[in-house]
Amino acid sequence: MSKSVLFQVSPGGNLQGKIRVPGDKSISHRSIILGSIAEGVTYIKGFLEGEDALATLEAFRAMGVNIEGPDQGEVVVHGVGLDGLKKPEKALYLGNSGTSMRLLSGLLAGQSFASTLTGDASLSSRPMRRVTNPLAEMGAQITTTENGTAPLQINGTSGLKGITYPMPVASAQVKSCLLLAGLYAAGETTVIEPAPTRDHIERMLNGFNYPVQRHGNQITICGGGKLIATDCDVPSDISSAAFFLVAASIAADSNVVLQHVGVNPTRTGVIDILKLMGADINIFNERVVSGEPVADIQVRSSQLHGIDIPEHLVPLAIDEFPVLFVAAACAQGQTRLTGAKELRVKESDRIQVMADGLQILGVAAQPTDDGMIIQGGPLGGGEVISHGDHRIAMSFAVAGLRASEPITIQDCENVNTSFPGFVSLAQSLGLNIEVGQS
Ligand code: S3P
Repeated sequence: MSKSVLFQVSPGGNLQGKIRVPGDKSISHRSIILGSIAEGVTYIKGFLEGEDALATLEAFRAMGVNIEGPDQGEVVVHGVGLDGLKKPEKALYLGNSGTSMRLLSGLLAGQSFASTLTGDASLSSRPMRRVTNPLAEMGAQITTTENGTAPLQINGTSGLKGITYPMPVASAQVKSCLLLAGLYAAGETTVIEPAPTRDHIERMLNGFNYPVQRHGNQITICGGGKLIATDCDVPSDISSAAFFLVAASIAADSNVVLQHVGVNPTRTGVIDILKLMGADINIFNERVVSGEPVADIQVRSSQLHGIDIPEHLVPLAIDEFPVLFVAAACAQGQTRLTGAKELRVKESDRIQVMADGLQILGVAAQPTDDGMIIQGGPLGGGEVISHGDHRIAMSFAVAGLRASEPITIQDCENVNTSFPGFVSLAQSLGLNIEVGQS
């Protein structure tokens, strides 16, 4: 049996320093997708060389796109145009990456060839009907398992037609999937958001000279145009920066600067929530890079206090709740999260898995159907299981800063899906973390 990676975190530590965390995962995926179907050559800088974004990159190579790199975050994509992709020789394996599978399903629905999308055990248990149902309304031919999960068999068709689709859940993956299908559909495709979700696809489509219109909560694209290659400078991922926003807030005598972080307002819920809890966070050097807001962020130690997390911030911080639960465990008083049922269908059931791990550390964490109630208090130590979920593993590493005993975190190999180099960067700031094997 192959050995599994574990993290060992010793208690305490103060964080000091200036770092740049790796590139944004969502933007990295989209830069490969749009670069591949554009006309001309797209130069990407700051690309996230994590397994998820690399899965997308390999999928397009398998469909005949010439992609150079990645080399220190630089990638050159020789676009083949909207109709230039080739039938892949075998199933496209997308590892742990929900974004790859959901976005590609929309794109592949409109191709002139059939394809199959597969993934690892976690991805193969995640809900796919949220994309296959609206795609079927557009005329797509896609089959899932009986449970609505991968593998997805996609029989590409030239007969897609635009629809107007009110999304039942606030999902940027579903929105992006339908807009990509909309590139190939006759007429207009309109997606209606029940709440704002990350808008990277709209910004990037416009950057590739493809018009996308927003009217209130409705986003519309019209099929039949073309994308023109452009340069993409990918900012650092605020979802990776989030571990250090919490870490420097909860550790004593800490002062950290995170450089060149993407601060798109559809992603900054984590900053809003931490500020409501009393965090000392400063945003400066704000600028716009490749159509995305970017800034440097300074964070210093503070005494956090519990809050009721406003539900409108949930989609804007959807990936940051594992580490926000750690912040809540270190805060004075009670923190209550509601309206976040989506967390149950991420890379793991993030409500259950975080509650289980926090309880092992002695925290009063009570999972609810759509959130969690956490009573702040002292953290002990122990052995927690991340269930192969990258963000759970990194969140418990951060918890070590306030633990009274060592924490061992099992099943950490997937940290490489979103944050290669996490351990050495965390060590460089002062986190007492070592990698081991079990
Ligand atoms: C993503 C959207 C989010 C997020 C995921 C990446 C994207 O998912 O959780 O990590 O790149 O569009 P949902 O839109 O399904 O909530």
